[in-house]
Amino acid sequence: MQAVAEKQRTLWFDYEDGSLKVIDQTLLPFQFKVLALNTLADAVDAIVTMKVRGAPLIGITAAFGVYLSLRSDMHSLNTACEQLVKTRPTAVNLRWALERMRCALEPVSEQQRPLHALLLAQHLLDEDVAACSAIGNYGLLLLQDIFQRKQARHGIDTVLNVLTHCNAGWLATGAWGTALAPVYKAQLAGLPVHVWVDETRPRNQGASLTAWELGRSQVPHTLVVDNAGGHLMQHGLVDVCLVGSDRTTSAGDVCNKIGTYLKALAAYDNQIPFYAALPVSTVDFASVDGVREIPIEERAAAEVTHLQGLDQTGVLRQVQVSAPGTAVSNFGFDVTPSRLVSGIITELGVFPATVAGLLRLRELSPVASSGAGH
Ligand code: MRU
Repeated sequence: MQAVAEKQRTLWFDYEDGSLKVIDQTLLPFQFKVLALNTLADAVDAIVTMKVRGAPLIGITAAFGVYLSLRSDMHSLNTACEQLVKTRPTAVNLRWALERMRCALEPVSEQQRPLHALLLAQHLLDEDVAACSAIGNYGLLLLQDIFQRKQARHGIDTVLNVLTHCNAGWLATGAWGTALAPVYKAQLAGLPVHVWVDETRPRNQGASLTAWELGRSQVPHTLVVDNAGGHLMQHGLVDVCLVGSDRTTSAGDVCNKIGTYLKALAAYDNQIPFYAALPVSTVDFASVDGVREIPIEERAAAEVTHLQGLDQTGVLRQVQVSAPGTAVSNFGFDVTPSRLVSGIITELGVFPATVAGLLRLRELSPVASSGAGH
């Protein structure tokens, strides 16, 4: 059986019309619309407006953005990279992908660069799909182990309850996802799995994206408000937390969507394993202390003061939920210190969230960023 998470590509290059095709994630779950990106400006806009989002997907889009730029101006390698790297500050995959493009393309003659850029961007996409599939396989082993121990306590009829935050599914990557890859692999392996989906205010990536993609794959799931996790954990309703990451440090601090840290604290207090699933492209080997060193994106106040949804006539609208003029703070991400992280699930295996664990990962990885240019 081929899973939707594997079959459904989030982004693909259309070799017939020469455009990069992406799904407009700002319209989900109500409308499935594929956009054609043809220029550097299109790629920049898609990332800035979050039509594409999720750390690995941003990096891949940027890589194709370099190609879109070079095919209309073969001298534009540096300016394209400079524009693209500024689109979003926290997810390190963006910088990682652009550094890989720049390092590979600089030695190539300018005439040859467009073709090489397209091939490398396609390679980064394929590499991400393979990485996410491998994350799913390693994560599945963990889930099977947790499930077997639960079965030993509760009997044969039990279900494995996973809690996730934001969207780290196939919509956030080339395919499969990171945190959701083990869930999809578990479903394929016949393991009875149920997912608690945090709504993930302010942009509701859990409600609008994670619940939608789990639904398409018929993975049992339940949407909860962001503040429900602690209560669920106290009542034995969560067996494991699985989240993605936008940047993980060489000491194992995990930066992810705002609210992740509070879930980790609640998991720690309730002795529930808390894993982050991420490809090596998400590790910033040049940073150590995530709280001090990772730049946290601050986003528009309107994301907090307003909500988007369908009205009774089926029209997509924004409604205001706070008094006009209310002061707003809108940090997009937070950092979960390594001591709260049970392990890091990667395409090369599961590693302790420690300096030694991340060093081992770096030694094993052919694509780990060197830290150059950081
Ligand atoms: O602001 P977003 O929607 O780009 O944030 C996405 C997340 O926080 C994801 O959890 C993270 O990028 C991991 S995606 C595999």
